[in-house]
Amino acid sequence: MLSLSNGFSEDDIRDFSDKICRFLGVSETTEIVCEPKVDGVSLSLVYEDGKLVRGVTRGDGVTGENITENVRTLRDIPMELEVKKGEILPQKVEIRGEVYITRINFEAMNAKQAEVGDKIFANARNAAAGSLRQLDSTITAQRPLEFFAYALASVSDDLSFETHTDELHALQRWGFVTVPFKAFGSVDGLLENYNGMVEKRFELPYAIDGLVYKVNDKNLQKRLGEVARSPRWAIAHKFPAEQVTTVLEGIDVQVGRTGVVTPVARLQPVEVGGVTVSNATLHNEDYIAERDIRVGDTVFIERAGDVIPKVVKPVLEKRPEKADIFSFPRECPVCNSNLVRLEGEAAWRCVNHLSCRAQVEAQIIYFVGKHGMDIDGLGQKQVQKFLEDGLIKTVVDVFNLKDHAEQLKGQEGFGEKSVTNLLESIERAKQVELPRFLAALGIPLVGYEVARLLANRYGTLEILQSAILDKPDDVESIDGIGSRIVESLQVFWQEPHTQELLKGLLTVGVTVMPYEAPQVADNPFLGKIVVLTGTMENMTRDEAKVRLQSLGAKVSGSVSSKTDYVVAGAAAGSKLKKAQELGVAVLDEAAFLEKLS
Ligand code: IVH
Repeated sequence: MLSLSNGFSEDDIRDFSDKICRFLGVSETTEIVCEPKVDGVSLSLVYEDGKLVRGVTRGDGVTGENITENVRTLRDIPMELEVKKGEILPQKVEIRGEVYITRINFEAMNAKQAEVGDKIFANARNAAAGSLRQLDSTITAQRPLEFFAYALASVSDDLSFETHTDELHALQRWGFVTVPFKAFGSVDGLLENYNGMVEKRFELPYAIDGLVYKVNDKNLQKRLGEVARSPRWAIAHKFPAEQVTTVLEGIDVQVGRTGVVTPVARLQPVEVGGVTVSNATLHNEDYIAERDIRVGDTVFIERAGDVIPKVVKPVLEKRPEKADIFSFPRECPVCNSNLVRLEGEAAWRCVNHLSCRAQVEAQIIYFVGKHGMDIDGLGQKQVQKFLEDGLIKTVVDVFNLKDHAEQLKGQEGFGEKSVTNLLESIERAKQVELPRFLAALGIPLVGYEVARLLANRYGTLEILQSAILDKPDDVESIDGIGSRIVESLQVFWQEPHTQELLKGLLTVGVTVMPYEAPQVADNPFLGKIVVLTGTMENMTRDEAKVRLQSLGAKVSGSVSSKTDYVVAGAAAGSKLKKAQELGVAVLDEAAFLEKLS
């Protein structure tokens, strides 16, 4: 499941529309549909031959939880799609939407929970999420869950729709309640509507945290495609975050996985956006200094949706007489090393990466966590305990825990069974796919997406390593990887400790499996090097580039003897000349479109 990029200001929305026009090479805004961004839990539903076969949560976007049995208890979700006379149902269809609880039902539900001494939920979204994930679906059935459908994620070939609104109408015919929606022909129209909704949203029976704008034409959606797991054809226009005031009782500093030292505000607990907040970020030294935030101040704090709460500014009129300017530490609060602040960076860092206890602990937690090796049963609590007891010192030691099985079984909270389970999941994790392994290493700027791009190109750890060390230009030529990422990879690989770490992991039996990139169907551009030049009538250069890349071509900026094709639009100049000199195949626009189709 993709996610939406966010816009906060009118400029962000105008930018969104301008980018679409530029990408498509048109001057008029295309029709855009506006829907509420419902603050619930997203759900994917699969229907085969009209019957509900699967319901899955979003999870991390790649892997979700199968909650089919629970989903079947929701009244808004049809077990079978309704067929109107003469209508064709698709053989297979995946429907997306949001599970939510209305404000009134949420209040009543919490009151009932309190009465019987059960858990009180912080807000309606948490309540919806908790209710959906029950192991016992009879409990889910008792919760007031409702569902809005907002999109068709995919439909089998036997049916297709021209517009998003056509899809929403089909969903309604099939028996779903869709989100309310309205189409607009101009950005001004969208913005006027937004300004009206900023206040009106509180009159809705359910919570929304913004509006979603979607290009209506499905064909244009397809051409626009996606960047970085978000569609280019949609954006969420968020509402301003709710602000409240409270007292700043203290400032602590925390040391993160990469050594960055972050100041954290300790606050008098206060409720904001339905959640009680007692900590908030203060970002860095400059953030505090620029706003002159002092301990003892009454401060504005804000929280927007999932975002970590932050301190916005002090209320100067309420400053107590004795409130000192905060002096940022120059030594690591955990290992006492001197902190370093690099030119151009806002953050102070502890560079004692190998032995600062806070960093080592955070690195291990990251390495074994969901976004890394994903070892079940090994979370923050266990890692902290094992470090304390000296059972582990580095990530390598995790794989030797089996030698301490007896000692583990004696520990508080560890029974025979949980130790066996833990050791089994550690064994399983030893066979790891390249992208997951790379992401687990926690190299700055290298998350799962970048790791996947690298694995796609190089396939094995050995080939990747020699490319990083000997052919940085080749690494940088991968779409989605820039010079900063390459630099970060080089710094990491040149570090003597890295070789030690990799060797250590191999010694304890970690095997990094070669990665097989998902196959792109055979086509005339697969594996070819293509240069685009001149102006085409039917497609902008950006769009042509994205299309070629999705077909497995490499789009290069300069012509050489290695170039397979030069695509020359009108007024092509020096690149076309060079191609002719070198005898590289030249495609004009018509020939290019023909080959693309
Ligand atoms: S469309 C490809 N429409 O917002 C885009 N999402 O980051 C798919 N959401 O968790 C999302 N209301 O569940 C879309 N009317 C709406 C929505 C909506 C709420 C949620 C969605 C996801 C997040 C998007």
